[in-house]
Amino acid sequence: MPQSIRDEILAVLLDRQPNYLSGEELSHKVGVSRAAIWKHMEELRAGGYEIEAKPRSGYRLVYRPDRVAPEEIYSHLQTKRFGREIQYQNHTPSTQIIAHQWAKEDAPEGAVVIADEQGDGKGRLGRVWHSPPRTGIWMSLILRPPIALQSASHLTILTSVGIKRGIERVTGLDIQIKWPNDLLIVGKKVCGVLTEIRGEQDCIHYAIIGIGMNVNTKKQDFPKEILDIATSLTIELGGDIHRATLIAAVLEELEECYERYLQEGFQTIQQEWESSAYKMNQMITVRTPQGNHTGILKGLYDTGALKLQVDQGTIAIYSAEIDIEKY
Ligand code: BTN
Repeated sequence: MPQSIRDEILAVLLDRQPNYLSGEELSHKVGVSRAAIWKHMEELRAGGYEIEAKPRSGYRLVYRPDRVAPEEIYSHLQTKRFGREIQYQNHTPSTQIIAHQWAKEDAPEGAVVIADEQGDGKGRLGRVWHSPPRTGIWMSLILRPPIALQSASHLTILTSVGIKRGIERVTGLDIQIKWPNDLLIVGKKVCGVLTEIRGEQDCIHYAIIGIGMNVNTKKQDFPKEILDIATSLTIELGGDIHRATLIAAVLEELEECYERYLQEGFQTIQQEWESSAYKMNQMITVRTPQGNHTGILKGLYDTGALKLQVDQGTIAIYSAEIDIEKY
């Protein structure tokens, strides 16, 4: 991870929050002179950080701006590979496009593209993903999984489990997972996953896992037509979330799920998914290109397909939409 002096100072200040840290201790911990510390403090302040300096007490971090720039994320992140390389964009059409380009070049596994705003955010099935500035998490993770193409749906499923855990850890909210790619809070969509694959029959060259999460999105920021089926963390919590902290938590949980999947296979991920599935053991209607099916949701097959119990027995659904009930 490219850990700059600024990142290190920030990490030490965060660790000591809400207490003071003397200039001497800071300079000792980071390994630069006190004059250099002072210069970096000025830069941090110019970047929106509020740092109190008190004679005989030292420095104290009072306020961090809600930025998703790499140095903010690095100061929270405890992963081996995920998020160790980040490309940050203030504004981009879509983080998916940049991630594809980077993956075709030399991006290592776990590299992440993050934007503060997307002008042409992509949803599943060619839909538009609304990505207003500085309100959400719009990011794409690059994976190089040693699995066959027909197991690709496992990646969306383990991503949903990792995101669920990350959100729950930071917010305490209860998240449900709706097959194949949505995360819900009390039946409203808070996050979507878009998995794009480049590969051949028996190998995946790379996968781009696009994650779009409504974090500090206010009601008035949503297009009217999705207001009754979409929500954000701030709407549900009644307060804003520090996005970099949440990104770090999500990346940590994703890395744990991905490594567990590669080492142990799909089974424990599947169990975790089923224990949080929206409408598990309830009647649902799925819309497929071949027509609708109504039945009881019984979980997943080990291929990642949805298991639906209908009058004739149990059937596997590979591609479909489950409608969210409107409240
Ligand atoms: C869906 O629910 O349809 C999936 C939405 C995925 C949106 C994310 S935002 C980051 C990444 N860049 C994009 O253009 N799309 C994905």
